[in-house]
Amino acid sequence: MISSSLLTTLLLSLAVASTPTVIQDSLVTLPIAKRINANSKATILEHDQARAQELRRSHEGRQRDLNPRENVPAVNGVVDYTVKVQIGSPPTSYTLLVDTGSSNTWVGAGKPYRNTSTSAPTGQKVSVVYGSGYFDGDEYTDTVNLGSGLTIKNQSIGVASSTQGFKDLDGILGIGPVDLTSGTLIDDGSLIPTITDNLFSQHRIKSNLVSISLSPATSLSSIHGELTFGGIDSSKHKGPIHYAPITSTSSASAFWGIDQSIRYGSTTIQSTTAGIVDTGTTLVLLASDIFEQYQNHTGAVFDSKVGLLRLTKIQYKNLHSLYFHIHGIDFELTPNAQIWPRSLNSVIDGDPDSIYSIIGNLGSNSGQGFDFVNGMTFLERYYSVYDTTNRRVGLATTSNTFAETN
Ligand SMILES: *[C@@H]1O[C@H](CO)[C@@H](O)[C@H](O)[C@H]1NC(C)=O
Ligand SMILES: *[C@@H]1O[C@H](CO)[C@@H](O)[C@H](O)[C@H]1NC(C)=O
Ligand SMILES: *[C@@H]1O[C@H](CO)[C@@H](O)[C@H](O)[C@H]1NC(C)=O
Repeated sequence: MISSSLLTTLLLSLAVASTPTVIQDSLVTLPIAKRINANSKATILEHDQARAQELRRSHEGRQRDLNPRENVPAVNGVVDYTVKVQIGSPPTSYTLLVDTGSSNTWVGAGKPYRNTSTSAPTGQKVSVVYGSGYFDGDEYTDTVNLGSGLTIKNQSIGVASSTQGFKDLDGILGIGPVDLTSGTLIDDGSLIPTITDNLFSQHRIKSNLVSISLSPATSLSSIHGELTFGGIDSSKHKGPIHYAPITSTSSASAFWGIDQSIRYGSTTIQSTTAGIVDTGTTLVLLASDIFEQYQNHTGAVFDSKVGLLRLTKIQYKNLHSLYFHIHGIDFELTPNAQIWPRSLNSVIDGDPDSIYSIIGNLGSNSGQGFDFVNGMTFLERYYSVYDTTNRRVGLATTSNTFAETN
């Protein structure tokens, strides 16, 4: 009989042996458009908190709230990232939100799904609830084209018959772990392979992973990022990719969840705990008790109109870096990386001369297995890799990590 520690050693060495080699010509890269929605009704914080609470709720096996809420903030926040994907033959182009925090891909929120020669209803009903909206509909298989003639056959997609909370969007490209599709098919326990899973199983990419490059926004004009299937675009990061295993702590473990501790300057404000990396969240969210420590150290006050902490010029000058310690490595958010781009203060109803922090309150205390969200304001400073085969998340510095963009 193999002892469990020997088994662990064997599994670990297998994990090392299966480290993907990056084969450049197998990469599939899609441009990501960053959009900034002025006149959004909900604050960024309301949107992000609603999403975080729903992500956690849905993986604690609690019932979904079926009561429609009034003034539901849009699922896509003040800032969102989208890609264009072609579906069907002849193809129709759909604009989809890039979401690492969910794993169903579906269309029909804006532009209706167009039935073509490759459309095949599976007979299954599908339903997914997001923090501030939902979609219900029918599952289809269809041909998905990611551009450059690269097609996936028989991709299972949702076709919405009813949606709430989607603004100027056709649906979602869900690139979270496949287990998040569990329970989304009504009366059917099967999982729905993601686009990444099918690219891999259909031998279109060499590794079952996705990489994301995003840049900080400083103007309303759209700025492009990059979504790469199957490997790593080495031109988009500077430092080495540091990998962290998916956390074993539930419910962060259902997502691209990792363990991290947090330091403000030299003061540890959060010992090692589990949370997630998420493109669908704008801010960096810290558990309420940790957030309160951050606020006390900085002296910032909460501005309820804007929904963010506000810093005086002196407080900003005295601000220390925030260090996210992940699997032995410090990922630094400089003072400049901790603030909302001042050129975009008007978009969030802010005062043009004020300084707002992108560190937000998660809305629940730490110690619950879902204690932080490293959202897009973090990911705009670090290249990120979501590796299904090896169950790990990779992060690397970029030319934006220490840039004074805000
Ligand atoms: C698409 O065509 C199939 C087969 O004819 C049909 O069952 C389905 O209802 C159609 N779906 C839509 C959205 O029109
Ligand atoms: C097509 O996809 C469905 C759902 O993902 C799967 O059940 C089925 O086996 C696939 N069929 C083929 C021919 O690959
Ligand atoms: C933050 O400061 C307030 C007011 O001084 C204090 O009551 C509270 O305990 C502090 N919180 C933390 C977490 O240090």
